[in-house]
Amino acid sequence: MAGSRDIQEKQKNIGVIGGGIIGASAAFRLAQRGFRVTVFERGGWGAEASWAGAGMLAPGGEMDGDPALAALAIKSRQLYPQFVKDLIEASGRSIDFQENGALDVAYGDAEWKALQARADRQRVLGICSKAMAADKVKAFWPFLRTENLAGGIFYPDDALVDPREVMAALRIACERAGVAIELQSEIETVIAGETGASMQVAGGREVHMDAVIVAAGAWSSAVELHGVAPQPAAFPVKGHLLGYRMPDKYCQTIVRCGQSYLLQRANGLLIVGASVERAGFERAVRPAVVLQLEKAAGFLLPHLAETTPTEVWAGFRPGSDALQLGRWQGSAVYLAYGHYRNGILLAPVTAERLSTEIASDLL
Ligand code: GLY
Repeated sequence: MAGSRDIQEKQKNIGVIGGGIIGASAAFRLAQRGFRVTVFERGGWGAEASWAGAGMLAPGGEMDGDPALAALAIKSRQLYPQFVKDLIEASGRSIDFQENGALDVAYGDAEWKALQARADRQRVLGICSKAMAADKVKAFWPFLRTENLAGGIFYPDDALVDPREVMAALRIACERAGVAIELQSEIETVIAGETGASMQVAGGREVHMDAVIVAAGAWSSAVELHGVAPQPAAFPVKGHLLGYRMPDKYCQTIVRCGQSYLLQRANGLLIVGASVERAGFERAVRPAVVLQLEKAAGFLLPHLAETTPTEVWAGFRPGSDALQLGRWQGSAVYLAYGHYRNGILLAPVTAERLSTEIASDLL
């Protein structure tokens, strides 16, 4: 039988602006707590960075400085198996989730020293790794370029997930948990108070919510906030990626070299990423950038030098000066954006933090 606390929770309405992995994960966890949740998405479900992202769950590849962010990333990585299990159970969909680690390779002494120094800094952050001599790397990753290979650092806890499958599962899981999903539904303005917020939906409708989450990725500062200071700026950081449909398994793990990475999904798609560009919201795929990525791919995996990518695409990472996570200036608005290169990785911890904070503030 539901207690009075549950009934009270059910009476609270939460509006989530953004139907990407961050907004959707938060909506799912809030609905599981009994809140009435509506997701407003200006375009399609998971159609931006959550669709474009490679799906690396890789503190080892991404965390090298900020201890608080590294701790959050490690925590989120630890939450991933349960997150995936919950989504599979709630949706009945399968999710490609591979916990096989990642290898960083170095060509030449300078790269090798830099990798080892980074691994030492990361150990202090709680990220473990193992140095591997070149002959070991050659034995375990036989498809990689061997010429001038100096060694590799293996990160056993890095993993990957197919974010498109996560989004498909999240949609069903959200709907089954009672989340209302409004696609092609842009929120232009939010009038924030301390105990609630009114949202203006494009087209003129006004909706009142007990709390509003801004989780619109690179578009998060396009939502005009009234009654409270403007939220920190969000901006797009464009990334091009390549996909090769491969009949065989080439990469059992993520492989990284400098700014490039390779990973292969269970469906055979081998992904090569990624450029990092401040180009605004320019969607065009640029042949010169594709060529650079093809060169990097062919260098690392010589077999790819003979192969043309079957797919090329670009997406917008959600940039901001810092990760924006939590209640905004004591108002009923909560921010969840600025995940930059780690939106897929940080989704479970973001959803957990937000749902816990909102439950504690509203009840
Ligand atoms: N997480 C990898 C990237 O943003 O390219």
